[in-house]
Amino acid sequence: MKNSKISGMGFHVPEHIVTNADLEEMMNTSDEWIRSRSGIEERRWISEGEGGSDLSLIASEKAMEMAGVTSNDIDMVIVGTASSDYYFPGIGAQLQDMLSLRTIGAFDIRVGCSAFIYGLSIADQFIKTGHCETVLLVGVDVLSPALEKNPEGRDVGVLFGDGAGAVIIQPGEEGSGILSTHLHSEGKYLKDLWVELPSFRIEGRGFDEERIKAKRHRLRMNGREVFKHAVTRFPEVIKEALDANNLTMDDIAQVIPHQANFRITEAVAKRLNVDMDRIYSNIHRYGNTTAATIPIAMCEAYEEGKFKADDHIILAAFGSGFTWASAAIKWI
Ligand code: ACO
Repeated sequence: MKNSKISGMGFHVPEHIVTNADLEEMMNTSDEWIRSRSGIEERRWISEGEGGSDLSLIASEKAMEMAGVTSNDIDMVIVGTASSDYYFPGIGAQLQDMLSLRTIGAFDIRVGCSAFIYGLSIADQFIKTGHCETVLLVGVDVLSPALEKNPEGRDVGVLFGDGAGAVIIQPGEEGSGILSTHLHSEGKYLKDLWVELPSFRIEGRGFDEERIKAKRHRLRMNGREVFKHAVTRFPEVIKEALDANNLTMDDIAQVIPHQANFRITEAVAKRLNVDMDRIYSNIHRYGNTTAATIPIAMCEAYEEGKFKADDHIILAAFGSGFTWASAAIKWI
């Protein structure tokens, strides 16, 4: 059976740069605290009137250009996001219109930071079964409007940035391209990283004074629990991808992990017993852009020559749910 391959990729981040010094003004934090706890130096936040669909459109156009495909070629759109412009429908349907695509299938998936690899896995199945020839997959998140930009929100407010990355997935050759994908979840930890409101469990969806005052519409995170699980699940799911393909870390040109936090990435490198130059990081530039970190990192790692044709790379993610996932790719 033919594998699928990534034939084009692109990313886009908002113009507006927010430095750690800017956050010092808003959040009673310090550049030193943010750098030492997360590795982040700056991030991009959307401006008034800008949304995830706008970033997705530009990232998608770049990926289409690299792959040499036109709107008419695309036969499925998958968007991984936890921050669509509207509660429903998702960004997939918006992109169908914005890119003037045929009336093809278009949908969103909501698994937080793991969404890009979940989407890659879904796209891979559509290609392998022959159902699709050209799938557009976008990972996009704009969590900045959900952050509390004052001292009370500093614990999560300093970590997140906004951005979008897109790839085109098409049929490749046997033995190269996307070799395998591995998806996991453990829902008992959902409240350790979540946005509770608006909730359809509650009459009026929770927009009452009491719940808003209790900040139940804000992104909430149990940082220590996330850290503890992430440093276990990342190496585990990377190893799963290696084992499934009879590979070892020596065969891997670059691991491209979800950019959650530089300290998590360092801990993962230590557990895998590999040097940091084999594990890509660009979190200092963009912060944690949730579903967008992996496609953005893939674009920059490729531009920087960290991997090339015939190299093996591993993608790995951990995020809300908890969910985690990996993909093994032989680049072509
Ligand atoms: N600036 C300054 N001080 C802060 C800030 C801030 N932005 N945030 C919290 N603090 C303070 C706390 O109030 C606390 O003060 P206290 O000791 O006076 O009470 C102190 O710093 C220490 O807080 P801790 O929570 O103990 O800090 P810790 O060293 O555990 O670091 C962190 C917190 C960075 C969140 C850590 O738990 C972590 O790295 N967790 C992983 C979470 C993560 O990276 N999430 C990314 C998103 S999720 C994902 O992508 C999978």
